[in-house]
Amino acid sequence: MSAPLWKAGEIAAAAGARVVGGPALDAAGISIDTRTLSPGDLYVAIEGERHDGHDFVAAAFGAGASGALVSAIRAGGLAGGPLLVADDSLEGLRGLARAARARSNARVVAVTGSVGKTSVKEMLRTALAPQGATHASAASHNNHWGVPLTLARLPREARYAVLEMGMNHAREIAPLSALGRPRVAVITAIAPVHIGNLGSLEAIADAKAEIFEGAERGATAVIDADAPFADKLAAAARANGLSRTLTFGEAGADARLVSVEAHGDGSRVEADVLGRRVAFALGAPGGHMAKNALAVLLAVHALGADIDRAAAALAGFAAPGGRGARLRLSAPGGEFTLIDESYNANPASMRAALALLGGTSPARGGRRVAIVGDMLELGADAERLHAELAPALDAARVDLLLTAGPLSRALHEAGRGGREARHADGAEGLAALALDALRGGDVAMAKGSNGSRVHAVVAALKARASKSGGN
Ligand SMILES: Nc1ncnc2c1ncn2[C@@H]1O[C@H](COP(=O)(O)OP(=O)(O)OP(=O)(O)O)[C@@H](O)[C@H]1O
Ligand SMILES: [Mg+2]
Repeated sequence: MSAPLWKAGEIAAAAGARVVGGPALDAAGISIDTRTLSPGDLYVAIEGERHDGHDFVAAAFGAGASGALVSAIRAGGLAGGPLLVADDSLEGLRGLARAARARSNARVVAVTGSVGKTSVKEMLRTALAPQGATHASAASHNNHWGVPLTLARLPREARYAVLEMGMNHAREIAPLSALGRPRVAVITAIAPVHIGNLGSLEAIADAKAEIFEGAERGATAVIDADAPFADKLAAAARANGLSRTLTFGEAGADARLVSVEAHGDGSRVEADVLGRRVAFALGAPGGHMAKNALAVLLAVHALGADIDRAAAALAGFAAPGGRGARLRLSAPGGEFTLIDESYNANPASMRAALALLGGTSPARGGRRVAIVGDMLELGADAERLHAELAPALDAARVDLLLTAGPLSRALHEAGRGGREARHADGAEGLAALALDALRGGDVAMAKGSNGSRVHAVVAALKARASKSGGN
């Protein structure tokens, strides 16, 4: 039998914890959530914004946890199994992450950017897996607990590790990069996301460039040639001792798109990668996903893996939930297509999603319908950034615009000239508008920030379809 993820003695040493309440046990995995904990996992109690994990230690032992890593200040009164008591449980988790990274021979790629992190991370997982055991962040676990958690879970025998790294403020990515020590650092895109906190696009670029600070000696940077401040990103890579910068994007970049054709639920892509033609099927639609694939192939190459084998694997990549998946749903008059982009939104991803809608043809007599909720965290320019999407509606030949929320009202006003447009106050009203408007033959795209709850609109459309016996 292979060694467990963590042997009993290793955990306490790595986490800087003392063991109380019974002998320490091996850990088969690491969990921070008792609802998804598997028997044999070490439970790490983390203080979140809404919950304190220390309140669920008993539940963790009930679910079969092998131990619980807790903060000293909360340890009193906790029972049910061996406790690993650290000064601070999150610092203990970081200790596990450092130890996992130190003992690993995995080649690490770290991915940040304003949009496309999870898409690129999941593409890398798909592309690398056939070439060696690959470990990657779960979901969007990209923050001060997500990155240490991912590293603490790194299997001993992994050949590749893919880490998503995100931020809301300056100086958040630097410590994540120091933990992960990437051999390849990817910046997918620079766009006004969280600009309310950062202040400017340049400040966003600077914050993303922190990913180079912890890179291994001789590491490679992979950046978007078309990103604002791309030169600054390349300069930051050099300043941090990275030996090479590879670019993807427009003419002159190391990887470029030659053609992208819609094909089934994805695309057929032809690209020029480091002077070589590479043709492949990509299981997710849209020019933005094809561009993400360029970043992936450059990163694969910089990791020492094979570009052609990686490209061949990308046919098996599917758009992650709420990020472009296509649903066929029944409505009065037949089935319509729903492009589910409801996971989140910012101006860059909204434009990409509208382009996706523009590239999808409705059936004869059907319409292109954009269902848009507010994009949040855009600071003082929020209304303007909404109104400025109107030309993208025109370019996508949107026939019907359904909006909700105080910020999207600006888009409703700016976009109503060229088409039929209806506006609602919130997600429930938007769902009612969509249920009322959508007919067989239409193609619709639904998108908004998570907090705008456009996913509730998607859920309502799905619920009606399943009631009527469709899918
Ligand atoms: N290169 C890109 N340009 C524009 N939009 C993109 C790009 N890549 C992905 N998107 C879109 O952006 C949205 C978010 O994608 P994804 O989840 O990959 O990003 P993320 O950076 O991981 O986001 P988060 O910060 O929420 O974790 C989706 O709607 C996706 O289709
Ligand atoms: Mg993500």
